[in-house]
Amino acid sequence: MRLYGAVFFMIVIGSDHAGFELKCEIIKFLKEKNIDFIELGCMDGSSCDYPLVAKEVCEKIVDGSADKAILICGTGIGISIAANKIKGIRAALCTNEYMAKYTRLHNDANVLCMGGRVIGAGVAAEITETFLNTEFEGGRHQRRVDQITEIEK
Ligand code: RB5
Repeated sequence: MRLYGAVFFMIVIGSDHAGFELKCEIIKFLKEKNIDFIELGCMDGSSCDYPLVAKEVCEKIVDGSADKAILICGTGIGISIAANKIKGIRAALCTNEYMAKYTRLHNDANVLCMGGRVIGAGVAAEITETFLNTEFEGGRHQRRVDQITEIEK
C-alpha cells in the first residue's frame, strides 16, 4: 500500500461492460497518482452483470482488504443500488465534485459510483481525486451514519 494524502490507501475498482472504458481511464489516474488498487469485475467490453461486480468489489471493503471502492456501470445507478444492499457499504453515485466532497464529509461513503455513459474521463478523475482526499467530518454526521447502520440491522 502507498501513502495517499495522510493515509495508507488500497482501492478496489470494478465495472460492468458499460463502465469498462471509464474504469480503464480511472485506473490510468490511479497509476499516475501511485495509488495501489485491486481490479475486479469485467476485464473487457463483453457483457457482464453489475450486481455481481458490486458484490465482489464490496466484499473487499467488508473484509478489510481495501479502504475504498470505485464502481462503474452505464448510469452508476444499478451498481450503487446493488452495493447499498451489502452491510457496511455506503455507496454514493456522484456526477460532480460537490457530491463527491459532501458524501465523504457527511455520509462517510466508502464506495464511489459513477456512470460510464454519463460523465467523461476528466470529470470522473476529479470526482475520484476529491472522493479519495476528503475525510469524514464526524460530529453530528456520525450520529446520522450510525442511524443508517441501525437500519441495516
Ligand atoms: C447495462 O446495459 C446497464 O444497464 C448498466 O450498466 C447500468 O447502467 C445499470 O444501472
